[in-house]
Amino acid sequence: HLIKTMSYPQGTGEFISTLPERKGWAEPLIQYKDFWFRRLPLEQILLLQDAMEPRADDIILATQPKCGTTWLKALAFAVTNRSRYSFTDDHPLLTTHPHRAVPYIEIPSPGTDHAHRHLEALPSPRLLATHMPMSLLPLHAGSRVVYLCRDPKDTLVSKFYFERRISETSDLSMDSAFSMFCDGFSSSGPFWDHCLEYWKESLARPNNVLFLRYEEIKSDPVQVVRKLAAFLGVPLTQEEESSGAAQEVVSLCSFEKLTSLQINQVGGVDRGNRLYVGNSMFYRKGEVGDWMNHMSHEMGEKLDRIVREKLQGSGLVF
Ligand code: A3P
Repeated sequence: HLIKTMSYPQGTGEFISTLPERKGWAEPLIQYKDFWFRRLPLEQILLLQDAMEPRADDIILATQPKCGTTWLKALAFAVTNRSRYSFTDDHPLLTTHPHRAVPYIEIPSPGTDHAHRHLEALPSPRLLATHMPMSLLPLHAGSRVVYLCRDPKDTLVSKFYFERRISETSDLSMDSAFSMFCDGFSSSGPFWDHCLEYWKESLARPNNVLFLRYEEIKSDPVQVVRKLAAFLGVPLTQEEESSGAAQEVVSLCSFEKLTSLQINQVGGVDRGNRLYVGNSMFYRKGEVGDWMNHMSHEMGEKLDRIVREKLQGSGLVF
């Protein structure tokens, strides 16, 4: 059994201490290869560049935090496991938080230290999630990636409330969250660069990278379930179409259903440093356009303008 060595001879911790660090959100973020990360995932990202063995049949759900990761995890889990469980009785999503049902590549599950060792033990095909930018993701050429993005204004508002909730000591203001986000300073950000990498890859390799939007799922979830199933190589059959399988996936994963389940109401993970991420904190309003209730019209216009300029010429618009 070979233990692979790290690519950073100084040691990951020492290497990280040479990188730029900036405070402002609930946890300080560290800049690596032009993106910002929390320390723990960054350590894992550095380790798994060498240690992770990507598989051709991996399915990877990629997002930036607050773009609808929890929802996408639930939907993709329900779609890919639909022949194994009934939607009503024994479905794991009735008793398992979507974040437990689909592990992150770079965030170790509670009680484990190295995320990738746990991943190696998973049977194929693996359903995995990540907030990593495409350029840092160890990928097999055959694996499929589903990217989910969201209007940056709603993403920022969602992030603002989440960051305040997880930190016992938070004095974060909307103004300061806004200016950090506009500056490209957010976990996995700059927001636009993260979107852009996956967007370009989805154009270059449409059979391997599917680009979705939160707003699109909100407006026609059944159609997105069909699209997801087809993209993942398990299209809905005629029989499933007539029995309403897509509708069942949608209602099992709906905001109303998930928030009604005990597993999504209690429990959580202590991150230390007076940070506690409760299972319920991944659900707030689940709406499109809620930014209007928390940001001024001028702020919205400013953020839109920045994002538009950054994405100019790419064909990607919000
Ligand atoms: P809001 O804060 O705007 O309500 P993530 O899962 O990436 O952390 O994103 C969290 C956001 O997705 C939150 O947005 C949350 O309410 C929303 N969300 C979580 N589950 C959802 C679901 N089943 N349907 C719609 N939105 C959902």
